[in-house]
Amino acid sequence: MSEMTSNAATVTVLADGPLQVEGRIRILAADGTLIKECEQVFLCRCGQSGNKPFCDGTHRKVGFSGD
Ligand code: FES
Repeated sequence: MSEMTSNAATVTVLADGPLQVEGRIRILAADGTLIKECEQVFLCRCGQSGNKPFCDGTHRKVGFSGD
């Protein structure tokens, strides 16, 4: 594994669901304010979450399709 690969965050597009991000993660607001630091997060891809930018499971209720 190269150094770049070992330090890289990994984004996995989950079927009909959110983006799973793993690695050293910092989520910043539009104004640069730190929202969260973590090693795994699920980011909304359907646009319907009540807790953006995080997935709150609403994609299942709305029948989101990632196709
Ligand atoms: S992807 Fe889960 S709420 Fe949008």
